[in-house]
Amino acid sequence: MKALITAGGRGTRLRPITHTSNKHLIPIANKPMIHYAIEAVVAAGIQEIGIVVNPETEAELREALGGGAPWGAKITYISQETPAGLAHVIKISEDFIKKEPFVFYLGDNVIVGGIGHFVKTFVADKAHCHLVLSKVKDPQRFGVPELRNGRIIGIEEKPKRPKSPYAVTGIYIYDHHIFEAVNKIGPSKRGELEISDAHQYLIENGFGISYSEITGWWKDTGQPEDLLEANRFVLDQIAESPDGISIDGEVDAKSELRGKVIIEKGAKVVQSQVRGPAIIGAGTRIENSYIGPYTSIYHDCEIKNSELEYSIVLERCRITDIDVRIEKSLLGREVELFRGMARPRTQKFVIGDQSRIELS
Ligand code: TTP
Repeated sequence: MKALITAGGRGTRLRPITHTSNKHLIPIANKPMIHYAIEAVVAAGIQEIGIVVNPETEAELREALGGGAPWGAKITYISQETPAGLAHVIKISEDFIKKEPFVFYLGDNVIVGGIGHFVKTFVADKAHCHLVLSKVKDPQRFGVPELRNGRIIGIEEKPKRPKSPYAVTGIYIYDHHIFEAVNKIGPSKRGELEISDAHQYLIENGFGISYSEITGWWKDTGQPEDLLEANRFVLDQIAESPDGISIDGEVDAKSELRGKVIIEKGAKVVQSQVRGPAIIGAGTRIENSYIGPYTSIYHDCEIKNSELEYSIVLERCRITDIDVRIEKSLLGREVELFRGMARPRTQKFVIGDQSRIELS
């Protein structure tokens, strides 16, 4: 079995971060999001992985993930010239997949508990396609299956009136018949080859679709709020496990750490309070500050005389003398936030396109 992981697309909902970087490299609990997908397929016993990339960020992904050696995997990069839909992703990957069954994994999905049991069910069911479903509050945002007697009898993309409370998540398993489907369907109204149309083709042409339900946690991290939520959840998981907790950096006597806190190598915490679960990245300095629960601060940042909670901060950010607590925030690389001393006291901004700032 092979795996195909998506890392292309536009990432419009995560602008401005995605103006300069691939969204699949945004860290969750200080680990690039796509690592979770790679780890999940490798843990399911799959070593041959195709990663679909867009031309703008292909070099960045190649540099970040290389050939897959750290995971004992072999990564092949497949370039998608335009983000023409998930069924298009599959269509252009036929040369890589050939006739083998494969896991199709959307690289912006984070799931806890692995995918090994889904692969086993697909093999045992002898199905042509296996979909992983999750009960959600807002099925209108997703592909929604219609279920009858334990079978999927139809799938609609973002329906106004969902026929079940389930979302089709971003983990799919196929045999080679999916290529017939993606080659037969035409573009949708929005001009994309839709994966739901490919599934509908399989159903209408008598190819069996089996499914599993995720009972644990799953998140499609398309928007900033989803990333914060995924970060919260993964930090909670780390907190629950006795392994992986480490204080590799320095914490001075005037600082106080509460709960599960990970201080990475070379990080320094000086006269500060850190309440876990939280992670402070390598080479980051926290001084006279408060870092609250569910916060991930990536490497080489500096936080001084400030308070921060339930946030993700990317590498080399500098936050200085901010006297209101920063919360529910996603800061891109090398962001600087500081208090100016000059009179008159005014707010001054240099903000990238499509940034969002909420002042109180
Ligand atoms: P989406 O989240 O549906 O799209 P997107 O990543 O372009 O983001 P946005 O809607 O904010 O513009 O994509 C789901 C996954 O599939 C994600 O990993 C990106 C990937 N993808 C491709 O690789 N190629 C494509 O043509 C599309 C549509 C998505």
